[in-house]
Amino acid sequence: MSEIFLEPWTEEDGKARVSTLFTQTFNKKASVFSCAPGRVNLIGEHTDYNDGLCLPIALPHKTFVALSYRDDDVVRLISDQGELWRGKITDIVPGMEQSWVNYAGGPAWSLGIVRGFDAAVVSCVPLGAGLSSSAAIEAAMAFALQPPQNAHDRQPIVDACIRAENEVANAPTGGMDQTVSIFANRGEAVCIDFFEHTQTHVPADFTQAGLCLLVIDTRAKHSLSDGQYGKRRAQCEQAKKELGLASLRSARLADVDQLQGIIAQRLRHVVSENTRVSDAIAALSARDFTTLGQLFLQSHESLRDDYEVSSPELDCAVETAMAHGALGARMTGGGFGGSAIALIHESQRDDIARAIREAHVDAGFPEPAFLVAHASSGAHLIAE
Ligand code: GLA
Repeated sequence: MSEIFLEPWTEEDGKARVSTLFTQTFNKKASVFSCAPGRVNLIGEHTDYNDGLCLPIALPHKTFVALSYRDDDVVRLISDQGELWRGKITDIVPGMEQSWVNYAGGPAWSLGIVRGFDAAVVSCVPLGAGLSSSAAIEAAMAFALQPPQNAHDRQPIVDACIRAENEVANAPTGGMDQTVSIFANRGEAVCIDFFEHTQTHVPADFTQAGLCLLVIDTRAKHSLSDGQYGKRRAQCEQAKKELGLASLRSARLADVDQLQGIIAQRLRHVVSENTRVSDAIAALSARDFTTLGQLFLQSHESLRDDYEVSSPELDCAVETAMAHGALGARMTGGGFGGSAIALIHESQRDDIARAIREAHVDAGFPEPAFLVAHASSGAHLIAE
């Protein structure tokens, strides 16, 4: 058996697929097409909801939407998973039944859309892999529903996608995924500062150095609405309260000594991770990939030991990648399953993927899937 590498669709292919699904389902042509990417975070995990720093890139793997407004208040949504949903625009509200419609329809609620519409969604972002398939649907739908006229229109769309995720899908996530899915540029990572509310683009091209970023989807179940993610947020709130701070962004490592047990551990992760993001930006800018790799590994250890959001599958992927020559590796995203990344020499890609697959199969874990991440563009409309 060989390793499975999930290839992204080209934009033409994605558009053709979503156009076909739309026309077959609704028997008419769509009037607007859009797409938005999933993401991997290079570093800066569980910092977004703590006013911190993170450094994600957009994946070349995207979600595609075809949409037409209607003259009534009916909404019909179809996905390539074969599910057709029909309701009214007023049915899409916080508290509605939990399903993929929360992500696909949620942005219509948060954007204040009152008109009905028909929409089709297809995606090559792996689902449930911690690669933000949900943010990709939200962003692609929001762009189709209310195309931004200029760059300034993008932040309100990000905010609408975050509200859809938090309030309609009930996942208390922090905003990194929607921000990068909308603000990403090709060849660049996005340093998101959640205290200053700024995004700074940082060149992130590994191929020039003969390197690549291998993404390992452990295929171990990953969920952000099962309580563990919310629990980490609550522990950070407690750290803030105990320290009497308005924001954990102003916490320092010395503050850790003032806290006890688990709360001290959680704070140590958040404070040290923000520093690692700044160090990673310096390393990327200096093209010092050895240092970048070491920062990846330190981030993983902190997430595993202090924040306790890793899993045996993620640890296995990281350890195996490191044992086979990776410059660095870490879990990426929320954790508790999902995906890991490894910065590797491109020439070793197949060997490292094979070693990881064998290690996972030997340990009785699900067989992982792989993809290669190049920093790609953010959400946009696709011309007719
Ligand atoms: C998930 C959330 C993000 C972020 C990460 C952890 O991906 O959606 O908002 O908190 O976890 O960094």
